[in-house]
Amino acid sequence: MDIKLHGYSFTHSFLILLLLFLILSLSALFNFSSFSIFSVSNFQSSISVPIVQLQTQVSASDQIHYVQSAPSSYTSPMINRFRNTTGIKKISKVHSREEELLEQGLARARASIRKAAALSAPNVSPIGGVNRRDVVGEVVYRNRAAFYQSYLEMERRFKVYVYSEGSPPIVHDGPCKDIYTIEGRFIHEMEHGSRRYRTRDPQRAHVYFMPFSVAWMVKYLYKPLTYDLTPLRQFVADYVRVISIKYPFWNRTCGADHFMLACHDWGPHASRANPLLYNTSIRVLCNANTSEGFNPRKDVSLPEIHLYSGNFPPQLLSPPPANTSRPYLAFFAGGLHGPIRPLLLNQWKDRDSDLRVFEYLPKHLNYYSFMLQSKFCLCPSGHEVASPRIVEAIYAECVPVILSKYYVLPFSDVLRWEAFSIRVKVSEIPRLKEVLRSVPEEKYKKLKEGLKAVRKHFVLNQPAKRFDVFHMILHSIWLRRINLRPG
Ligand SMILES: *[C@@H]1O[C@H](CO)[C@@H](O)[C@H](O)[C@H]1NC(C)=O
Ligand SMILES: *[C@@H]1O[C@H](CO)[C@@H](O)[C@H](O)[C@H]1NC(C)=O
Ligand SMILES: *[C@@H]1O[C@H](CO)[C@@H](O)[C@H](O)[C@H]1NC(C)=O
Ligand SMILES: *[C@@H]1O[C@H](CO)[C@@H](O)[C@H](O)[C@H]1NC(C)=O
Ligand SMILES: *[C@@H]1O[C@H](CO)[C@@H](O)[C@H](O)[C@H]1NC(C)=O
Repeated sequence: MDIKLHGYSFTHSFLILLLLFLILSLSALFNFSSFSIFSVSNFQSSISVPIVQLQTQVSASDQIHYVQSAPSSYTSPMINRFRNTTGIKKISKVHSREEELLEQGLARARASIRKAAALSAPNVSPIGGVNRRDVVGEVVYRNRAAFYQSYLEMERRFKVYVYSEGSPPIVHDGPCKDIYTIEGRFIHEMEHGSRRYRTRDPQRAHVYFMPFSVAWMVKYLYKPLTYDLTPLRQFVADYVRVISIKYPFWNRTCGADHFMLACHDWGPHASRANPLLYNTSIRVLCNANTSEGFNPRKDVSLPEIHLYSGNFPPQLLSPPPANTSRPYLAFFAGGLHGPIRPLLLNQWKDRDSDLRVFEYLPKHLNYYSFMLQSKFCLCPSGHEVASPRIVEAIYAECVPVILSKYYVLPFSDVLRWEAFSIRVKVSEIPRLKEVLRSVPEEKYKKLKEGLKAVRKHFVLNQPAKRFDVFHMILHSIWLRRINLRPG
C-alpha cells in the first residue's frame, strides 16, 4: 500500500515534470515567435501594436512612451484593475445571464482584434480584409487593421446606456456653439442621434453615460470671479450618488464602466467630486493634462472644436489644392495666457515676416486665410492643454506644430500623430524657425498627405457619420471598455 502509494506519487510527479518540460519548451517556442515579431517591427519605424492593449504609458516627463507587447501575451494592467475590490468579488459570483453574454461578446471582439493585429504584423501580408476606401493612409494609424477591426466590432456590439436622471440645461444638454461645442454635440448625438449605440436596457449596456455638461455648470452654477468650484463638484457628487443608489451598475464596477465627458477647462476639477469617478471611471476630457491626473489608460482625450456660430468656418470646409503656394512658414494668433504662450510671443511676436505670430489678429486680417496660407500652424497650449487650433489646422491642411507639455493628444491610441503633425519642445521655441525650416520638403509632403487622411476623424457631422469625430470618441471609450474585465 505504502509502496504503491509511493509508486503512484513517483509516476505522478514524473508526469508532472514531463508536462512541465513540455509546457516550458512550448512556451519557449511561443516566446521565440512573438520575439521575432517584435524584432521585425523594431526594424520598421512604424510600430504595429494591437490596440486591444492600451499601451500608452506616461512617464514623469511629458513624453509618452508606447510600450509594445506581443499579441500573444494579453496582460494589460487595466484588465485586473478591479479584481481587488470587495464589491466585484461579491458580484463575480452571481453574474447575470446578460453580463455573461456581454463579456462573451467582448471576449470575441478582443480575439478578432488581436487576430487582425497579428495578421498585419509587418512581415505578414498587408492589411487583412481592410476596405481601402474606409481607412486610407496606412502611416497615420498605429495599426490600421487592428483599428478597423476594432471599429467594426464596436459597430457590431457596443451599447451605451444614458442615464435619464437630471434635467436640462445642466444635464441632457450642453453648448452647441463656441469653444466647448463638443460637450453639447456629443450629448445630443448620444441622446437624439443615431440609435445604433444607445440602449434603453441598462442590462445590455457595456458602458453608462452620465450626460451632464460642465460648461453649463459653469454657466448656471458658478458665481463669476469667485473661483469657487464647490457648486460644480457638489452637482457631480450628487449625480453620482443618485445613480449609484438607484441602480446597481455603479457599485458593480466601482464606476469603471461609467463615463463623463467635459470640454471645459474645469472638467478635471469637477470630476474630483467623487474619488471613484476621478480614479476609476472613464473621463473624456479636452483638458487631458497628465500632470493634473489625466490617465490615458482609462481616460479619453477629447478634441476641442470651436464652432463660432454653430458651424465650422466655411473657408476651412474645402481647403485649396495641395499645390497652392503657402507663402508663410508658420502662423499663430491668440491670447497671451497659460504657461507656454508667453514664451512664444516674447520670442516671435511681430518679429519675422515668415513666422507670423500675433497676439490678437488685427481686424482687417483674416485668421483662416492665414491658416490656409501657412505651411505650419502653431498650436501652443493656453490656459489648458488643448487648443481648437489643432482641429482647425487639420482642416486647413496646415501642419499642426504641437507646443505643449503633459498633453495627451486625441485618439493617440489609434493615430500616429507624428505622421501628420510636429511636436516641438517648449525649450526649442527660440529655435522654432530653424526647426521648421529644416523639415525636408519630402517629409512636409507626407505630413500633408497625413492631414488629408485623418481629416475625417475630426469632422463633426450632424447626423454623425462613420469614422467621424463622434465615432472616434465613442471608439476611444469602446477601447477602454474592452480593456476592462470586471469580475
Ligand atoms: C488590495 O488593495 C489594498 C489597498 O489598495 C492592498 O492593501 C491589498 O494588498 C490589495 N490586495 C490584493 C490581494 O492585491
Ligand atoms: C452602492 O454603494 C453605496 C455606498 O456603499 C450604497 O449607499 C448604495 O446603496 C449602493 N447602491 C446599491 C444600488 O446597492
Ligand atoms: C485617487 O486615488 C489616489 C490614490 O489612492 C488618492 O490619493 C486620491 O485622493 C484620489 N483622487 C481623488 C480625486 O479622490
Ligand atoms: C495645381 O494643380 C492643378 C491641377 O492639378 C493645375 O490645374 C494648376 O495649374 C496647379 N496650380 C499651380 C499653382 O501649380
Ligand atoms: C498642466 O498641469 C500642470 C500641473 O497642474 C500645470 O502646471 C500646467 O500649467 C498645466 N498645463 C496647462 C497648459 O494648463
